[in-house]
Amino acid sequence: GAAELGPYRHYMQKEIFEQARALGDTLEGITNIMPELFGDKAYRVFQEIDNVLILACGTSYYAGMTAKYWIESIAKIPVNVEIASEYRYRDSVPNPKSLVVTISQSGETADTLAALKHARELGMPHSLTICNVSTSAMVRECELAYITRAGVEVGVASTKAFTTQLAALFLLALTLAQSKGRLSETQEQDHIKALRHLPVAITAVLALEPQIIAWADEFARKENALFLGRGLHYPIALEGALKLKEISYIHAEAYPAGELKHGPLALVTKDMPVVTVAPNDTLIEKLKSNMQEVRARGGELYVFADADSRIAPSEGVHVIRLPEHYGMLSPILHTVPLQLLAYHTALARGTDVDKPRNLAKSVTVE
Ligand code: G6P
Repeated sequence: GAAELGPYRHYMQKEIFEQARALGDTLEGITNIMPELFGDKAYRVFQEIDNVLILACGTSYYAGMTAKYWIESIAKIPVNVEIASEYRYRDSVPNPKSLVVTISQSGETADTLAALKHARELGMPHSLTICNVSTSAMVRECELAYITRAGVEVGVASTKAFTTQLAALFLLALTLAQSKGRLSETQEQDHIKALRHLPVAITAVLALEPQIIAWADEFARKENALFLGRGLHYPIALEGALKLKEISYIHAEAYPAGELKHGPLALVTKDMPVVTVAPNDTLIEKLKSNMQEVRARGGELYVFADADSRIAPSEGVHVIRLPEHYGMLSPILHTVPLQLLAYHTALARGTDVDKPRNLAKSVTVE
């Protein structure tokens, strides 16, 4: 009811603004990396496994895609990410040394539970879940668990559950790296420091809301939007597009920016806004040339840069700058303005933000 919402108009907005608290709670008390964070048996399991298979749906699947970059980069263990509803219905080659990781806000998604069961039946005994509900079926079914502390999420479009999943998955990448002897003490402490800074960093990003509202008023008049990201931020572009389509009903697609020339560039006209996730990482120069390809066709760019990206606003290039450069944790911070953009665009269009048509919070049937 209204009392629970406080100053917010919708649960989604409230949940976006709860993310500093949710991340703080999810990472509470973590001063060192150790397998036991994931359960009593984790030490032995992490020694035994040599690859990771991630199974999830929807927004949780995009968290899994991000985790692949982190785990392969930090722990140097191969990772496969599969959409749960596809994985269970295709022939695959099981590896008994896989750690099967399910990611689920609710812990009750039928497809993800069935995919987990399928993996076990194929002979993969080791499982871990990143889940927001400690009493859920998923937590009962998995050998290991990390419970995110986002708190109850009411809005159908997932927000705080996603960013807390990402934080937990980053911890998993660090822990697997440590188990394989690939994390020095200095690296461990540097990463933990960055994780503990997240609540403060996210609060500063949330303060960009007024600038995002100005963009949302433009977006509300569009029927299509393209989202671009590269590397670690490609899954974040996917999540941004998903948020926009779920609640504003604007058709949105995400592409890794290097793939533009292989198709979506044909869609770019002055009526196609192109949202670009552009932190200053190793791909920024490549991304800038992708942005020029868009400008050359008259596309309007809406760029989420960070403190270090050298991208200046100009004709047809709108820039909102996040206050810092966040290194490997950048996907978590870059998610927030995309959530706000979707929220305010939906608000401007007058849709039912917390209960979008045809969608359910938790899909417990196939
Ligand atoms: C539904 C929700 C999405 C969610 C997906 C997976 O489609 O509307 O927001 O990402 O299910 O849910 P889970 O609880 O498994 O993360």
